[in-house]
Amino acid sequence: MKIMAFYYKPLSTIFLMWTNLFFLCLILMTSSSEAAAATTSYTLDLIHRDSPSSPFYDPSQTRLQRQAGSFLRSIARSSSNLLSAPVSPFSGEYVTKFRIGTPPVEVLAIVDTHSDLTWTQCVPCRDNVDKVIECYKQKTPLFDPRNSKTYRNLTCGSDQCALLDDASPGLLPACDHDQQPCSYYVFYKEEAVDESRSGGDIALETFTFVDGDNIDSVKVVFGCGHDNMGGFVEKASGVLGLARGSVSLVNQLASGGGARYFSYCLTSESDRSDSDAASRIRFGSTAIVGPGPKVGSTPLRKGPGGTVRNFYSVTLEGISVGNQRLEYSSSPKIVKRVGNIFIDSSTAMTVLPSSFYDRLESALVNGTRAKRVPDPRKTNGLCFSKGNINYPVITAHFQGVDLVLSNENTFSEVGVGVVCSTFLRGVSDEPSVAIFGNMHQRNILIGFDLDNHKVDFLPTDCAKPQ
Ligand SMILES: *[C@@H]1O[C@H](CO)[C@@H](O)[C@H](O)[C@H]1NC(C)=O
Ligand SMILES: *[C@@H]1O[C@H](CO)[C@@H](O)[C@H](O)[C@H]1NC(C)=O
Repeated sequence: MKIMAFYYKPLSTIFLMWTNLFFLCLILMTSSSEAAAATTSYTLDLIHRDSPSSPFYDPSQTRLQRQAGSFLRSIARSSSNLLSAPVSPFSGEYVTKFRIGTPPVEVLAIVDTHSDLTWTQCVPCRDNVDKVIECYKQKTPLFDPRNSKTYRNLTCGSDQCALLDDASPGLLPACDHDQQPCSYYVFYKEEAVDESRSGGDIALETFTFVDGDNIDSVKVVFGCGHDNMGGFVEKASGVLGLARGSVSLVNQLASGGGARYFSYCLTSESDRSDSDAASRIRFGSTAIVGPGPKVGSTPLRKGPGGTVRNFYSVTLEGISVGNQRLEYSSSPKIVKRVGNIFIDSSTAMTVLPSSFYDRLESALVNGTRAKRVPDPRKTNGLCFSKGNINYPVITAHFQGVDLVLSNENTFSEVGVGVVCSTFLRGVSDEPSVAIFGNMHQRNILIGFDLDNHKVDFLPTDCAKPQ
C-alpha cells in the first residue's frame, strides 16, 4: 500500500494559492509569445542500476547485497570533504540512454544532479602521463567524433566555452587565449567506491532523445573525454549533468527560451521489474508540476559554495516521528541558515548530520516499538525484526511543505524478516553531508524550477503513465 499525503501549514497554503494564481496569470500572459520557443520538451527513461532492464543488473546478487551496495554508495556520495572535490558520479543510482552524433551512436550515461557537464568517453583515447591508453571499459561502443558529421570542437573564445565559467570548481576548463581549443578536466574525489576523472575537448554535437515515437534532436555542448579513468568494472559511457550551472543540460535545453525546468518521478523498488513502469525524467514546459491543490513547493537556495554551489540546496526544518517533532536546526552545527540539505536523485539513502541522526534514531527506536537487531549488511544501520514493528508516520518538514514519507521507503526489507531504516548517519555533524536521497523521493513527482527557484512536489503513482 502506498499512501502519501501532504499537510500544509495554513500560511503556506495561502502563499501557495497566490503563487498559483500568479503563475496562471504569467502563463496566460506569456503563452502566445512563448509558444514558438518552448514547444519542445524532452523525456528520458531513468533506469535504476539494479533493475532488470539495467545494463548493470546482476541477477546473481541478493537483495541484501544490492542494499549493501546502495548503502556504501550513499556513504561515498556524502562526505565532510565534499567541499574540496566532487564525488564520483559512478556512485550514482540511475542511468539513461540517448544518442549523439550523425549517424547517431547510443550513449549510456549516469544521471547526476551533482554534475554540471555532460560528458562521454571518446576515441582516440590519449596517452596520459604514464603513456597508458586511458579509457575505462564501458558497456556501449566508444564514440568516435571523427565519424560524426555534426561534431564540432569549440574554442576558448566561443560563447559555448563560457558556459563552463560558473560550473562547480571540480571542472577545470583550460584556456589561455581565445583561439585555443576549449578543453576540460574533471577530477572526482577518491573514494572507497572509485577513483575517476575525465578530460578532453568541449564540443558541440547533436543529441537525439527517443521517447516512443517522438524523436527530438538538439545541439548540446558536451565533453568529449579522451583521457578517462573510472575503475575496472564495466561502466556507463559518461555522465548526464543536471546540476545548476549554465552548461547543465537543463539550462542548455531551455536556451531557446523554454522553461528551465525538469521533473522526475521515481518508481518504487517493487515496480522496477516491470519495464513499462520505468522512472522518467522530463525537461521543458511539459515537465512543469502543477500548479494544483496537492502541489507543494519549497524554495531552492544557493548552494553553500565550493564544489556544492550548483547542488539543489533546500531547507529542512525538522523531521517528525509520529507526533514527536525533531527540529533540524537545533543541532549545534546546523546553523540557522537556509539551504541545509541537498536533494539528490543519485544517492539512495537520506544522509543526516551525525547528532541529528542520533536523535532521529532514538525516536525511531521508540516509535517502532520493535526489537532492534544487528544490521545484516554490517553497516551499523538501524534494523528491526519485521514481525511486530509499528510503523510510525514519518514526516519531513521542508520550508513550505511537509512530505509524509511512505513506510515502504523509510524501512526497507534487507533480509528475511529484517527491515532497516533508510536514514544514514553522516560522517560528520556538518549540514554539508546532508542529502535527501532517492528512496524518500519515490512516488512523488518532483519538479526543479530553476527560473523561479523552487522545488515542486506532487504525490504520484510513478508506475502509472503520466
Ligand atoms: C578537435 O580537437 C582535437 C584536439 O583538441 C583534435 O585532435 C581533433 O581532431 C579535433 N576534431 C575536429 C573534428 O576538429
Ligand atoms: C516515545 O513514543 C511515544 C509515542 O509512541 C511518545 O509519546 C514519547 O514522547 C516518546 N518518548 C521519547 C523519549 O521519545
